[in-house]
Amino acid sequence: WVGSCSVQDLCESGIEEVPKEYIQPARNEFASLGCDGEGINIPVIDYAKLQAADAEEVSKFVDACKEWGFFQLANHGIPEDLVIKTQQVAKQFFYLPSQEKQEYFVATNQLDAVAIGYSRISFLNEESPQDWGDTLVIDVDANTEIDTWPKKPEAFREIILQYSKEITSLGTQLLNITTLSLGLPEQYVENNFGEVGLLLSANFYPRCPQPDLVLGLSTHSDPQFLTLLFQDVEGLHVLRDDRWTLVKPRHNHFVVNVGDQTEILSNGKYKSSLHRVTVNNERDRLSIAAFLRPPLHAVVGPAPCLIDDSHPTQYSSVKYGEFYSSAYGSLGKRNLESHKV
Ligand code: SIN
Ligand code: FE2
Repeated sequence: WVGSCSVQDLCESGIEEVPKEYIQPARNEFASLGCDGEGINIPVIDYAKLQAADAEEVSKFVDACKEWGFFQLANHGIPEDLVIKTQQVAKQFFYLPSQEKQEYFVATNQLDAVAIGYSRISFLNEESPQDWGDTLVIDVDANTEIDTWPKKPEAFREIILQYSKEITSLGTQLLNITTLSLGLPEQYVENNFGEVGLLLSANFYPRCPQPDLVLGLSTHSDPQFLTLLFQDVEGLHVLRDDRWTLVKPRHNHFVVNVGDQTEILSNGKYKSSLHRVTVNNERDRLSIAAFLRPPLHAVVGPAPCLIDDSHPTQYSSVKYGEFYSSAYGSLGKRNLESHKV
């Protein structure tokens, strides 16, 4: 079974054709139209202005959350140097000899149950096409024992820990801005569901000899509250109005997207959009996703003050831990659909 080795190992074996397990028959189900610089742009939000509650920026932010569920975050305040070092240590991990990564290897279907694991990226069942990528997942807040984190490269633990602190602080502030923009009271998430946790996922998509036949990551929406993503090479696409729009990497910006819990909380006002990743035959691609999640025991439902006669309840409340486990089995669809009322 293909699941026992990484996609990177498969590539390094020198294959010229992709094995049939990876071929995506429905890859072109939506036209691939538009990208940054070619007429369609996902919004760019200036974090400094947003934090200062600049009315115009807040209104751009609200529109972005409603219409796209995606935006690029400029002026985010995380030192560029730290982002570069994080990218470096993550890359160095993936470029370690295969044997040295083995001790972190877990079967993909175990990924939702462990706090740390190196695996293939596909969370699909074994009959579905496999995705062209590998991942290293660390649930930072469920796994504060950093001596279980990769030992190599040497700077890994220190840099990832530092990055985790910075991105958690930025992410929780952004989440507070998000709930305030919905008209909810200060610190709504923390006060109602408890402290948010951080799940980090470093994704590595090796260059592919036949990139048009595969996907790096199949269509899905993110189950958490918010995602802050670093990407080095283009490949991420968001679905809007039945079009795949390329989310071009922008220097020193994070791609931010609304996750399922925020769509639920907002009673459908903000969108958790479907997205996917394509690969190319020239460059390996690395992305680092920081997912802000509720505590596993938290029960998240639409905020009562967002429900009235003209806005009836759209989602049932659900325990986040259960929502997350079932999300793993439902990639390609939106797990969220099963919680619609
Ligand atoms: C993700 O959707 O979680 C990762 C996206 C990416 O690799 O750009
Ligand atoms: Fe995602």
